[in-house]
Amino acid sequence: MSIRHFLRDDDLTADEQALVLRRALELKSAPFSRRPLEGPRVVAVLFDKPTLRTQVSFAGAIAHLGGHPLVVDGNLSQIGVRESIADTARVLGRQAAAIVWRTFGQDRIEEMAAHAGVPVVNALTDDFHPCQILADLLTVTEHKGALRGLTLGYVGDGANNMAHSYLLGCALAGMHVRIGTPASHQPDPAILARATELAAAHGGSVLVTDDPSAAVDGVDVVVTDTWVSMGMEGQKGERQGAASPFVPYAVTQELMAHAAPDAIFLHCLPAYRAFEVEAGVIDGPQSVVWDEAENRLHAQKALLSFLLEDHQGA
Ligand code: NVA
Repeated sequence: MSIRHFLRDDDLTADEQALVLRRALELKSAPFSRRPLEGPRVVAVLFDKPTLRTQVSFAGAIAHLGGHPLVVDGNLSQIGVRESIADTARVLGRQAAAIVWRTFGQDRIEEMAAHAGVPVVNALTDDFHPCQILADLLTVTEHKGALRGLTLGYVGDGANNMAHSYLLGCALAGMHVRIGTPASHQPDPAILARATELAAAHGGSVLVTDDPSAAVDGVDVVVTDTWVSMGMEGQKGERQGAASPFVPYAVTQELMAHAAPDAIFLHCLPAYRAFEVEAGVIDGPQSVVWDEAENRLHAQKALLSFLLEDHQGA
């Protein structure tokens, strides 16, 4: 069976995404029912950027699947500095059942996947955060039922990893996805084109607008993300200052009132209550962010099970 990677949301087909989400629900009610990593086999979990949720949820997922998570700090491994990515991949692939990596450029994780010989999972790059979107779709499923036909409105930085992953992941799920973002921070055109194609194939749609109210008008799910992604710390002043182009896109209670009355609010966290979201929203009755954070565990467990059991005969 061929090795499968999960480097971006559309590395799964729509049917496979649905299967992973169904399996996540099964695993949520029967946490230790699948043991593809029994041994324990080691999964290498590598971080070139900060982490909390991702480290804990992957460590838990790997342990529940019978395996052992070996978490390596990027300051120690210095992948691409001490040793090429290709050589690192060859070494890890001889000893680990899978590799989970949070890093900067998408090209880095593609290089890892090309040489590892074992499944490689994107735990966030500058371009995508596909594991988070699986957790988000699981959360929406739990609160809203079927995904197809629902509308999600994301407001904030339209050019970041979360915006890109919502575009692809929601389009695959047959959802309508809207991105509300300033003209200066539009999604990558190639990713937008791919999302538009996927939406057309699966019954959804894609809209990018600079009008924050239009982005959330009547939607079922409102979502935002930090205005200062990891690696952008040097731009903090311009992104979070009073003149930030993102200020009109903050999820205030007033903006939230444009969504459907029973809309839910998602945020991948960490959240900055003085900036992209008001405390009254994230700490209010429509917020499901703690379910969302928990669902990282269940979604990633289902993903690893899919990659290891369905595609490697583990
Ligand atoms: N866009 C954010 C997501 C954090 C989970 C970042 O890259 O820092």
